Amino acid sequence: METSPTSGADQGPCRCALIGAGRVGSALARALPAVGVAVHGPLGREATVPAEATVALLCVPDAEIARAAAAITPRPGLLVGHCSGATGLTALTGAGHEAFSLHPLMTVAGPDAVFAGAGAAVDGSTDAALATARELARTLGLRPVRIRDEDRVAYHAAASIASNFLVTLQDAAERLLATADADRELLVPLVRATVENWAAHGPERALTGPIARGDVATVAAQRDAVADRTPELLALFDALADATRSLADRRTVVTG
Ligand SMILES: NC(=O)c1ccc[n+]([C@@H]2O[C@H](COP(=O)([O-])OP(=O)(O)OC[C@H]3O[C@@H](n4cnc5c(N)ncnc54)[C@H](OP(=O)(O)O)[C@@H]3O)[C@@H](O)[C@H]2O)c1
Repeated sequence: METSPTSGADQGPCRCALIGAGRVGSALARALPAVGVAVHGPLGREATVPAEATVALLCVPDAEIARAAAAITPRPGLLVGHCSGATGLTALTGAGHEAFSLHPLMTVAGPDAVFAGAGAAVDGSTDAALATARELARTLGLRPVRIRDEDRVAYHAAASIASNFLVTLQDAAERLLATADADRELLVPLVRATVENWAAHGPERALTGPIARGDVATVAAQRDAVADRTPELLALFDALADATRSLADRRTVVTG
């Protein structure tokens, strides 16, 4: 079982002021006390960070991080962090703070979000700040991985491909399927099994279907159906078919 994290600056118990009362701020205001971390907030725009706080964690939109950091007076013993995936630490160090970041790699839609079991990108401007980010993450049940400033945007783009684009892809599938008078429920077990196979075995072994089998005529017929019924999806279909052929080629090399 995790012990309550310490503040890197003074090694005392972490007392965390949450700034920003949106989705992440509200979810952390519920999750952190449940694992033994004292929380102030979530605090709004005009609030000041309480003197007893050892950590101020900004849960504000990415574009507001520098402004919110500048509104906090730097002091010894106070670490300032943010929860953004794509943002580096300079937005915080530029305001004079000993800084860290803790980005839960999880979709947070409301206060009931479950963090345990997910990954988290962490970083710190000092060893102590990084240690605090790791401890806070582990206390929430997250698996911390250090992602430095220069890699943040690529890391976050990968997360968007994995999560946001997956939803876009399912929306495209649903729309084409609707032209055959069937709905999403038909797709759900297929999508779940595919994700589980990818997670367990990796992309080369998880790939099945006509491109993997080399059924060229079937793929051409599929393309005609897309062009006929959902022409707005044809560019997406072609791009994904090309990418899938590359994956199938890699699979041939891997499996011999
Ligand atoms: N949601 C997710 O799935 C998720 C997951 C991981 C990480 N994150 C990261 O977490 C951070 C917050 O995202 P979110 O989804 O929680 O955003 P959100 O739901 O839009 O909430 C942002 C909150 O910040 C407040 N705010 C804006 N500017 C402020 C300022 N200068 N000082 C104090 N409060 C301010 C907003 O108040 P007003 O309503 O008054 O503007 C709002 O309550 C972002 O960096 C995001 O990248 C989000």
